[in-house]
Amino acid sequence: MTDEAANVFADPTAYADEPRLHAAMTYLRAHNPVAYVDKAPYRPFYAITKHADIMDIERDNNLWLSEPRPVLVTAVADDFARSQLESGAGLRTLIHMDDPHHKKVRAIGQDWFRPNALRELQVQVDALAKRYVDKMVEIGPECDFVEDIAIHFPLYVILSLLGLPEEDFPRMHQLTQEMFGADDKEYQRGATLEERMATLLDFFNYFSTLTASRRANPTGDLASAIANGRIDGEPLSDVDTASYYVIVASAGHDTTKDAISGGLRALIENPGELDRLRREPDLIGTAVEEMIRWTTPVKEFMRTAAADTTVRGVPISKGESVYLAYTSANRDEEIFDDPFTFDVGRFPNRHLAFGYGVHFCLGAALARMEMRSLFSELIPRLDSIEFAGEPELAATVFVGGLKHLPIRYSLR
Ligand code: HEM
Repeated sequence: MTDEAANVFADPTAYADEPRLHAAMTYLRAHNPVAYVDKAPYRPFYAITKHADIMDIERDNNLWLSEPRPVLVTAVADDFARSQLESGAGLRTLIHMDDPHHKKVRAIGQDWFRPNALRELQVQVDALAKRYVDKMVEIGPECDFVEDIAIHFPLYVILSLLGLPEEDFPRMHQLTQEMFGADDKEYQRGATLEERMATLLDFFNYFSTLTASRRANPTGDLASAIANGRIDGEPLSDVDTASYYVIVASAGHDTTKDAISGGLRALIENPGELDRLRREPDLIGTAVEEMIRWTTPVKEFMRTAAADTTVRGVPISKGESVYLAYTSANRDEEIFDDPFTFDVGRFPNRHLAFGYGVHFCLGAALARMEMRSLFSELIPRLDSIEFAGEPELAATVFVGGLKHLPIRYSLR
């Protein structure tokens, strides 16, 4: 049972089958919380399923490094990405970096994501939320909430913040899906590694052009801050600059879409909680937090040991990697009362969906703001809502959630 349970982490289809996934994780938390997984096409790793252990690992960023294996990819993809990096063409984003370089690169964009700075964006985000709820009225009484609404709203917000022209948004949308949904056939550009890497190159080329333009003519947007960012007085390298755009444009998009659509699904499946939120709109803050815990759009990040160590008594050698199973941490019975109950008033809610420590999600305040804005617009206008077909989850080992959420509704 232990091997079978731990193998869910090396099986992209497991995240599309929630009962199977949660049964395996619940078993591992109780019986094998530091589980060795050795299953092709991945290199071996230890799956960490307890909330406390993930926090301990993320807290100690001198012992546990993001380099050279920040996320789970196949051994072949890993080798390919590394050779690309060595040739100067690969992607090296914040999530790949360790201190001291990480801290300096993160500082370049950080001010744009602070709650104070984001307050200036609130009016724009509220207007966008209204636009998309109006669109639901227009295309109703049925829609695929993922395809028609949830995909577009966060993308529009993040690309506006970056300062990209609206006509480029569809292209960014497609590239983001190809990159993050790379394990799901519906999203793949092609089967070969070269085809998948072509997505990365497209991103890279698009943003290299943008950098040149913002260096020549800086504007007041986030893209200009990145293009003109300096480290120790030197401009960011081409790889670091393009990678910065890629992480912001991609991490700010699919993740929030997954939390929004999974959050709506949870409200439909728990009509009592939807009614509660209608009666008590002040619960929107805790409701959004619960949607993020419930959906956990980012399934994992990885760390590699810089020295021999132990986790919960299990020896881990220098150079071996751990897989931080956020989905499991967010159902940990030791941390959450009734972890499998969706409770819009849950407080405290110490979920790890945004990670922890020095890599804590840069866009957390923005994601929360977008979700509060959209649900505050939607819920008071909603007379009824139900499924109009089966919700469908994406196969992934990294970022994912609903691919389709067919709904029927009556909206004012
Ligand atoms: C990092 C989750 C939305 C930008 C992360 C991490 C997680 C995460 C788990 C890694 C944390 C760690 O290693 O400890 C999420 C979720 C989101 C979301 C669940 C939505 C509900 C956003 C948004 C942006 C964003 C809207 C906006 C740009 C980033 C960046 C990083 C990051 C730049 C890398 C930070 C670093 O390595 O220093 N996110 N994220 N994320 N996120 Fe998010």
